[in-house]
Amino acid sequence: MEKYKKPYAEKDVQEVYDGPGGLLWEAVMSEQIHSGGPEATDALAQALGLKEGMKVLDLCSALGAPARHIVKKYGVTVKGVDMTKTMIEKAIERTKKAGLDNKIEYHMGNVMDLPYEDNSFDIVWGQEAWCYVTDKNKLIQEAYRVLNPGGKIGFTDWIITGDISREELDPLYDTMSFPYMEDFKGYQELLKNNGFKILKAEDQTEAFAQCFDEYYVTVHEKLKTMILENFGKDLFDFASNLVTIWQKAAIEHKVGRGFFIAQK
Ligand SMILES: C[S@@+](CC[C@H](N)C(=O)[O-])C[C@H]1O[C@@H](n2cnc3c(N)ncnc32)[C@H](O)[C@@H]1O
Repeated sequence: MEKYKKPYAEKDVQEVYDGPGGLLWEAVMSEQIHSGGPEATDALAQALGLKEGMKVLDLCSALGAPARHIVKKYGVTVKGVDMTKTMIEKAIERTKKAGLDNKIEYHMGNVMDLPYEDNSFDIVWGQEAWCYVTDKNKLIQEAYRVLNPGGKIGFTDWIITGDISREELDPLYDTMSFPYMEDFKGYQELLKNNGFKILKAEDQTEAFAQCFDEYYVTVHEKLKTMILENFGKDLFDFASNLVTIWQKAAIEHKVGRGFFIAQK
C-alpha cells in the first residue's frame, strides 16, 4: 500500500525547533529529546557495541545531549548533523561548557545530503528524529555510503506499528509536522534494499505508550502552570491535544517506537 504523506518539509521542522516547540519538547522529554531518556541511549549504545575510539555520526543531533552522554560513557568521538540553527547553537554551547568540544563536532546540514566522504564512520546513530525526514530512502542510502565496511547503523524512530487509517494519521502528523512515518517492515526493507544486513529489529510500542502516559501527566499536571505562564493557552491546548492523541494511538498499538540495528 502506498504511504500516506503530508507536505511538511524542512522549513516546518525548523519552525518547531527554532521556536517554542523546541523549548517545550525539552521541558517535557528532557535535554535528550526522545522517549526513554538516557536509558534508551544506553540500550542503543550497548546494542551497537560502542567502544573507545569509535567514530559515531549522529543524524539529527538536536541539543547534542545523547552525543555528550556516549562520549563520556563509551569514549567515542561524535559528529552531529542537524538542520536547525537554534539546536546547533545550543548543542555547541552546551558541549563547550561540558568540556567535550575536542570530542564532538556539529554541522548544520540536511541528513539526506551528508558532507562526508564514503567510508568515514564506524557507527551511524539516530534517535527519534528520522520521522521528520522527507525521503528516508535517501537518508539510509547516505548512511550506508558514509559507513566503513562492517560499520553499523543503529536507530530508534516513531513508526507505524499497527493498522491505522489516513484519517487517524492526519491529526498525528499535523501535531508533529511529520511528512510521513515509516512502518516496522518498511524500515527493514529500506535497510535491506540499501545493502544492510539486519541484526536487530524490535517493536517497542509498549514502552513508547508508557512514555506517553508520563508525558500526559507532565503536560496536564507537572508543567501545566509553567506552560501556561511561559507559552500561553494556545500552546498548552496544542500540547494537551498532542499528548492525548498520541497516547491513545500508542495504547491501541497503532503507532510506536521501532529499534533497529544493521551492518554494512
Ligand atoms: C526530536 S529532535 C532529535 C532528538 C535527538 N536525536 C535526541 O535524541 O536528543 C529532532 C531533530 O531533527 C532535526 N531534523 C529533522 N529533519 C532533519 C533533516 N532532514 N536534516 C537534519 N536535521 C533534521 C531537527 O532539526 C531537530 O533538531
